[in-house]
Amino acid sequence: MIRTKNISFSYTEYEKTDELDSNDLELVSAAREAALNAYAPYSKFKVGAAVRLESGLIVQGANVENAAFPSGICAERSVLSNSISNHSIDKPVALAIASMTADGLTDYPPSPCGSCRQVIAEEESRTGNKIRIILSGKNKILIIDSIGSLLPLQFNRKNLEINLP
Ligand code: THU
Repeated sequence: MIRTKNISFSYTEYEKTDELDSNDLELVSAAREAALNAYAPYSKFKVGAAVRLESGLIVQGANVENAAFPSGICAERSVLSNSISNHSIDKPVALAIASMTADGLTDYPPSPCGSCRQVIAEEESRTGNKIRIILSGKNKILIIDSIGSLLPLQFNRKNLEINLP
């Protein structure tokens, strides 16, 4: 039997940053602040990410580019490397992303690239917790419940069928 199936997902859109609840607003501000620390001399596109951990702690990261272009790292992988390396037991509950050019914050909310989606998916599988993803443009903000929505049919540890701690 051949079946055509459909995958859809819901997200919440905000038209003003101040419509966010105070925790989310704080995380978006941390992502915007992190973008200021990006090292992006080649693309001049600065990305900041901030993760809120279960304890309430906020960890920040930014994109770090390299003259050997593929050696650069995106903000989302940068922040997760930071939080996993320094707070492996404290699980991420939310991740906010912001981006800026020479003109300031981008109007549109930046969405994580494919590699970053895969790494966020790994962190959800490692911790067993969903991570709310907050994409923040200058005014427009999108909130997505889990990376599963941005990376459906994902390849993860379940596909390897091995027992991990
Ligand atoms: N970048 C990120 O930091 N996150 C993304 O999800 C997409 C792109 C960075 C990589 C590179 O330093 C610059 O943005 C332009 O692609």
